[in-house]
Amino acid sequence: MKVSGAKNSALVVMAGALLCKSECRLRNIPGLVDVDKMCQIIEALGVKIQRNDDVLDFDMTGFNCHTPPFELVSKLRAAFFAIGPILARLGVAKVPLPGGCSIGARPVELHVRGLQAMGAHVEIAHGIVNAYVTGVNKRLQGAKIYLDYPSVGATETLMMAATLADGETILENAAKEPEVVDLANFCISIGAKITGAGTDRIVIVGVQELHATEYSIISDRVEAATFLVAGAITNSEITVFPAISSHLAAAVAKLEQIGARIAIDSPDRMRTIPTGILRGTDIETLPYPAFPTDMQAQFMALLAVSEGSSVITETVFENRLQHVAELKRMGANIKVKGNHAIVEGVLALSGATVTATDLRASAALVIAGLA
Ligand code: UD1
Repeated sequence: MKVSGAKNSALVVMAGALLCKSECRLRNIPGLVDVDKMCQIIEALGVKIQRNDDVLDFDMTGFNCHTPPFELVSKLRAAFFAIGPILARLGVAKVPLPGGCSIGARPVELHVRGLQAMGAHVEIAHGIVNAYVTGVNKRLQGAKIYLDYPSVGATETLMMAATLADGETILENAAKEPEVVDLANFCISIGAKITGAGTDRIVIVGVQELHATEYSIISDRVEAATFLVAGAITNSEITVFPAISSHLAAAVAKLEQIGARIAIDSPDRMRTIPTGILRGTDIETLPYPAFPTDMQAQFMALLAVSEGSSVITETVFENRLQHVAELKRMGANIKVKGNHAIVEGVLALSGATVTATDLRASAALVIAGLA
């Protein structure tokens, strides 16, 4: 199976493109509705975008609008992360609050507090976050920011904002996800001064201007791991490429505990080896490098047909067990207690009409359908 470019990298790197003064080319962009929506949002700000297969060309020379439209931002949470680059480039940004979504409330106070620490004035009224910088050159100021939680989005928003700030910004307790590192590498390719991405302390020294680049985003670790789970649940051999195996370490470790075997054939190629063994295990979702919340639903489908009991604990989002009811329609034996799902493996699932709630839950139901 060919693995696409990472959705979560693509969306945020597209927002990061707003930091460049001239143009930039992004490669390995996945063909997704969310990418189309992000293009529309960025175009609404005055940017020209040309799409050619998995390549996006941006021309930022007409970027002069600081108000992405409500109808578009409300449909795509990642669009809120554009507040960082818009504010850094134009000194003002009016961005609608992202709505809650099916997996949880998903507040943005960490993004807002960080921008305030960097000298932005922020007023939230009528569902709009109105942020602006005063002073002669309307530049954000470098600051030392401790994130109460290593939020991926807040780390990305603040890292982008800091690239053009006056002075040094230190993000403590930053998110360590590979997509944060990818965004940092993109920013470095346009001239940003960033060190420490991938650790919990990121240091950004602001520069005056960021230049053109051509950048290829990483492959999608969630897509790759989803195919590996599909291989395990169908007891078949599936090769995934390109896949960065180090990004999948937690998911692979769990697959092996469950009984699957994963071969790493080359640095970017992985394969499931049928073993006929599926046994229960416990899983707890946590920030990277621990087990990702974006793989929780798919593993629940797998554990639903694995021998014995498993406990799945979701700690990242408060409402991300909606697929339980759907898996139960297919004959799974799962009980929910708070943020724990107790899964008793059954011998087989049966086909049923089910409802897809969020993206990863939908993938889980497809995997269950395959089984
Ligand atoms: C990103 C990913 C998403 C993934 C998640 C966790 C994108 C586009 N999406 O989402 O696929 O599931 O990371 O790996 O990259 N929180 C607050 N206040 C804030 C910000 C976050 O309380 O200001 C909470 C959230 O409600 C959630 C938790 O922190 O409970 C994690 O959220 P966060 O890491 O910010 O996830 P996203 O960046 O939204």
